[in-house]
Amino acid sequence: TLPTSVRVFEVGPRDGLQNEKVQIPTEQKIQFIQMLAEAGLPVVEASSFVSPRAIPQLSDAATVMTHLKRLTTVDYPVLVPNLKGMERALAAGVRSIAVFTAASESFTRHNINATIAESLANFRPVLELARQEDIPVRGYISTVFGCPYEGAVDPQRVLEVAQELLAAGVAELSLGDTIGVATPIQVVNVLELLLNAGLPVQQLGVHFHDTRGTALANVLAALQVGITTVDSSAGGLGGCPYAPGAAGNLATEDLLYMLHGMGIQTGVDLDKVVAATAYIAPFLGHAPASKYYQAAMAA
Ligand code: HMG
Ligand code: MG
Repeated sequence: TLPTSVRVFEVGPRDGLQNEKVQIPTEQKIQFIQMLAEAGLPVVEASSFVSPRAIPQLSDAATVMTHLKRLTTVDYPVLVPNLKGMERALAAGVRSIAVFTAASESFTRHNINATIAESLANFRPVLELARQEDIPVRGYISTVFGCPYEGAVDPQRVLEVAQELLAAGVAELSLGDTIGVATPIQVVNVLELLLNAGLPVQQLGVHFHDTRGTALANVLAALQVGITTVDSSAGGLGGCPYAPGAAGNLATEDLLYMLHGMGIQTGVDLDKVVAATAYIAPFLGHAPASKYYQAAMAA
């Protein structure tokens, strides 16, 4: 059976833009975020308070967050890797955050220069501040379905990291197919392992990159085992600079088209997402990958 509604977690302004080579002006990023929020997306992940040397594109996170006109109905989380990032985020008025680690050691080393255990230790003071400030925390686990450096990843390792994040006070998890290698039966197998271990399905979301064209099929498989939070990126923008070969995220437009066509509600206006993508497209220097977007533009 399929859910009657899905929470679409928009990551375009963060996961999408972080991989763009050309520096996008801050003002246009803010407008892009506002257009996505006005499209009815319940969550618009807005930026990252990481090292500006790691991700130069998002070094304007503080300006974005302080100038953004927010809707009270929308969450605008940002990525936070450590206490320094949390302090910068709080100073910029952030009220929702995400921490991020992975299920494979080599990716974690390349991405955040830490072991998985060290990353979890770095989150402790971040989670403590979040608790004091009543700020909800999402926890990303990357390389759940495969690692660019190690290849296959043991689902048991995913379970251990997931349990540690939930025990540390993370409210929800996002399971990342960082390099877009997952296929549907694998998705079901990994999710069933987590669910059979007692992880609550409402606390799990899926995050597929569409590198090999399997993202929508993977979403359908995840919905069939009860998942109702799906990450996507307007236009299919995205990737991860520390994951060689990672293409864009699953496109929000393609996801919405499939969900709405199956009678699954999202509360999101697909035409308005297309308009947001059309707004940011000229600043990217390449065409957005979303199939639905391309079809809409050709019509
Ligand atoms: P490090 O070099 O080990 O950190 O980097 P450090 O503590 O030694 O600090 C080095 C310098 O960075 C210092 O500056 C710090 O002050 C500064 P210096 O004294 O040399 O001038 N620094 C910071 N500056 C601003 N904000 C901060 C911050 N922290 C340190 N928060 C670190 C470790 C984690 C900081 C770095 O590796 C980093 O920022 N990594 C982020 C990488 C990233 O953003 N990757 C993409 C997001 S993850 C992703 O896309 C996957 C996901 O989509 C899910 C999926 O698809 O799988 C979520
Ligand atoms: Mg990602």
